[in-house]
Amino acid sequence: MNRDIRTIGVLTSGGDAPGMNAAIRAVVRVGCYHGLKVMGVKRGYNGLINGDMIEMDARSVSETLQRGGTILQTARCLEFKEPESVKRGVEIARVFGLDGLVVIGGDGSFRGARDLCEAGLPTVAMPGTIDNDINCSEYTVGFDTCLNTVQDAIDKIRDTATSHERCSIIEVMGRNAGYIAIYAGIACGAEVVLIPEVPVDFDEDVLRPILESKSRGKKHSIIIVAEGVGGVIEMAKEIEEKTGIESRATILGHVQRGGSPSVRDRAVASQMGGMAVELLLEGKSNRVLCMQQGKVTDVDIMEGLNMKKHLPRELVELCKKLAV
Ligand code: ADP
Ligand code: F6P
Repeated sequence: MNRDIRTIGVLTSGGDAPGMNAAIRAVVRVGCYHGLKVMGVKRGYNGLINGDMIEMDARSVSETLQRGGTILQTARCLEFKEPESVKRGVEIARVFGLDGLVVIGGDGSFRGARDLCEAGLPTVAMPGTIDNDINCSEYTVGFDTCLNTVQDAIDKIRDTATSHERCSIIEVMGRNAGYIAIYAGIACGAEVVLIPEVPVDFDEDVLRPILESKSRGKKHSIIIVAEGVGGVIEMAKEIEEKTGIESRATILGHVQRGGSPSVRDRAVASQMGGMAVELLLEGKSNRVLCMQQGKVTDVDIMEGLNMKKHLPRELVELCKKLAV
């Protein structure tokens, strides 16, 4: 155990995700277990550069495990991309006596964590984002809860789409990645899934399957569109004009980011949060927790950022096969 680590900080950064509170709780409780002082940094990197942080103890995270969002608040602090801000962050960390920091967020947040390490503050990161778009990790905290919310919403949309024999076009989150869309497509029985990773031929990939599924006796069509593809309102109009099938668009939006975390998100968040503290205590820094081959492990942040992860194309094919 590294006796140089007596006080650690924890912050959440970027878009919030269900399970972030479970991760904060794990950092605080495992820190307390080891006799550390734990500071909760408010509003991501904003709180670090402005010295906005509070001391947390084991009881200050009671009743947070089941809550969505993040009790520390989060922010997209663009200022932190500037080296001056990183330097200031390290200075403020020194003022508050922080010997290490745990950052919970997505890949932008990891870049900030790497910059802090280079500037002298030992930092460990872990993936908290609904998008599941972290290259080094098979899983990101928040993904499962988000998918359960999406599934619940699409099941309801399907009821009304069937009653009215309509085509429902549903936009789910994912600016650059189609993980939410493709898993929702499989879990909710979509006729068509459009993701940013695969170019779209509207006639071939959208209109044709809708008309074919109607001719095969289907009462509705569910089209799931990732945010990065977008344009669902125009798409609904075009489908209606070109097929004669009444169409409606729904943008699920931020409902996908909230809610009580699922068992999986609580468990992974607790495991990664706890391990982040143990890594700091072992004197390790510049590491990111990740899930590889189903196991929680850690890699160098830059190595992790440079890894490649591809949405399995067989899932795209499976969606098509399941829609016959
Ligand atoms: P999201 O995908 O929801 O935006 P991220 O975890 O990628 O979530 O967070 C992005 C945030 O990370 C930025 O708004 C910024 O505050 C922080 N950040 C810090 N350093 C960097 C950096 N070098 N590049 C990008 N983002 C950074
Ligand atoms: O990164 C998480 C995410 O929910 C993306 O899926 C989405 O594109 C983005 O954040 C939306 O962010 P905002 O909080 O700005 O609406």
